[in-house]
Amino acid sequence: MKNLVILISGGGSNMAAIVRTALRDDWATRYHAQVAAVISNKPDAKGLVFAQAQGLKTSMVNHHAFAHEAEPRAAFDAALMAEIDQHQPHLVVLAGFMRILTPGFVAHYEGRLINIHPSLLPAFTGLHTHQRALDEGCQFAGATVHRVTAELDHGEILAQAVVPVLPGDSADSLAARVLTQEHLMFPRVVAQLLASMKG
Ligand code: GRF
Repeated sequence: MKNLVILISGGGSNMAAIVRTALRDDWATRYHAQVAAVISNKPDAKGLVFAQAQGLKTSMVNHHAFAHEAEPRAAFDAALMAEIDQHQPHLVVLAGFMRILTPGFVAHYEGRLINIHPSLLPAFTGLHTHQRALDEGCQFAGATVHRVTAELDHGEILAQAVVPVLPGDSADSLAARVLTQEHLMFPRVVAQLLASMKG
């Protein structure tokens, strides 16, 4: 079985879209693949409730628990890696996972780590992407699925979805329009990667 591990921090709507597509399109038969676990860095991530209701394995590695360590980020990443690696993942999917990962973590999952970012990269890396697109007067916005490298929101672009910016848009209305496209694009990219993998 090709194992997929999905990391979330919040609502988990992209994770839910992947899980629903995996069921609907029977990824188990079609790609010999399964969502092996959903892991959050936040105890109150709403996405965990959905994942549990689907009967998926869930766990939580709270980054606050490592604040007292000499190197909190490295210590958190080491604990997260240990949790992920229990599932021997073929693919690790960052779906609204709001932590910057260390180069060691990224290297460990090289070729197996993808992220979704709510902008048309390379424009607007980082946070507040929709407000920044509005502030710049962009006429189009969107989202990007990309491979993860040590540099934040860089790495090979695997797919992009484009939406128009409409008159009167707020950051929230634009985010909602982009998110609808994220939910279509992300499962499609994951499926394509699974189809291309041995296992
Ligand atoms: C999405 O817009 C995603 O692109 C970004 O954070 C948001 C997460 O939403 N990284 P959700 O948790 O998948 O609902």
